[in-house]
Amino acid sequence: MSAAERAAQAFAERFGTAPEGVWAAPGRVNVIGEHTDYNDGFVLPVALPHTTRAAVGRRTDGRLALASLQGDGAVVELAMVELGPGRPDGWAGYPAGVVDGLRDELADGVSVLVDTDVPVGAGLSSSAALTCSVALALRDLVAPHLTRADLVELARRSENDFVGAPTGILDQSASLLCEAGHALFLDTRSRTTEQVPLDLAAAALELLVVDTGTSHTHADGGYGDRRRECEEAALRLGVPALRDVADVAALRVLDDDVLRRRARHIVTENARVLEIVRILRGDADPRSIGPVLSEGHVSLRDDFEISTPELDACVAAALAAGAHGARMVGGGFGGSAVVLVDRDRAGAVADAVRARFAREGYPAPRTFDVVPSEGARRLA
Ligand code: GLA
Repeated sequence: MSAAERAAQAFAERFGTAPEGVWAAPGRVNVIGEHTDYNDGFVLPVALPHTTRAAVGRRTDGRLALASLQGDGAVVELAMVELGPGRPDGWAGYPAGVVDGLRDELADGVSVLVDTDVPVGAGLSSSAALTCSVALALRDLVAPHLTRADLVELARRSENDFVGAPTGILDQSASLLCEAGHALFLDTRSRTTEQVPLDLAAAALELLVVDTGTSHTHADGGYGDRRRECEEAALRLGVPALRDVADVAALRVLDDDVLRRRARHIVTENARVLEIVRILRGDADPRSIGPVLSEGHVSLRDDFEISTPELDACVAAALAAGAHGARMVGGGFGGSAVVLVDRDRAGAVADAVRARFAREGYPAPRTFDVVPSEGARRLA
């Protein structure tokens, strides 16, 4: 049975009618450009082959019903007029926030069943896969005038205003705008995008994801603290956003060491995105992005202070075993790392990371190779 059939069948079992369609949206892994999105900076994500599927059908009784094939299987149901931030909460808040953004078009109600293979809490944007699959479905059913850029905003508002996670637009943009075989170079200020070809297989390379199994949530304090520190640094520097700081030399005027290091991460990270895009656009060997990835990790670890012992151990073990570069990805405080490695070394590097984890007493990590995949689409 295909993933679309599985979702459609489960929808029919829960709700007694066939869905009007099934949509899918992927998780993402960010090649480089971490925490730059809410500083008006640059990002370079790829979409994962892993997706969330949403089977969706409109109702006539003015109610919202949400079901998931993960978790306890209970259906979350409430009247459309009861929707509001925190109502419903938990996983159901993410799709409910998207429905809430289209409440005028959906006053008669809607049923949604979701199924996913995006690892949850792994820094791979399971929440954006969830909101974006539902956003695309509702666009097709009730709001055909919305562009994909509009859907990025709809999905972001669900996370920011409904769920209360103060994220930027990296994850939603990746899930909705990425194309297979490419990384998405996005300027989060102007919202301009460029599809940058990323054919690692042709260069006999792999981009390995290592999911440390330590999970995180952005509704917790650490992410919001970083965001506030960045805003405070920009304010003290007299610029609209840290994007506007061209050179780390300009940070000398910040007398607060913490704020200076937070800002230094953003300034150097934006430069790393531009450097990697420059390498990938040209004829250079893509291996040469490796050291830039590793510099990104050091910056996230020491200046932004959002790494963990597990992520640091992963990066160190991978580099010691011959990887070209490695870094933690996503919001931080847990989750996954990416490792750039020659295909014929990938097994040995993954083994080295597993051995290191076993020695440190960490749970065995899960690894998989990233094939840059297509963004959100209708399946059925
Ligand atoms: C999370 C957020 C994104 C972005 C990253 C860090 O994934 O959802 O908006 O800030 O962290 O790059």
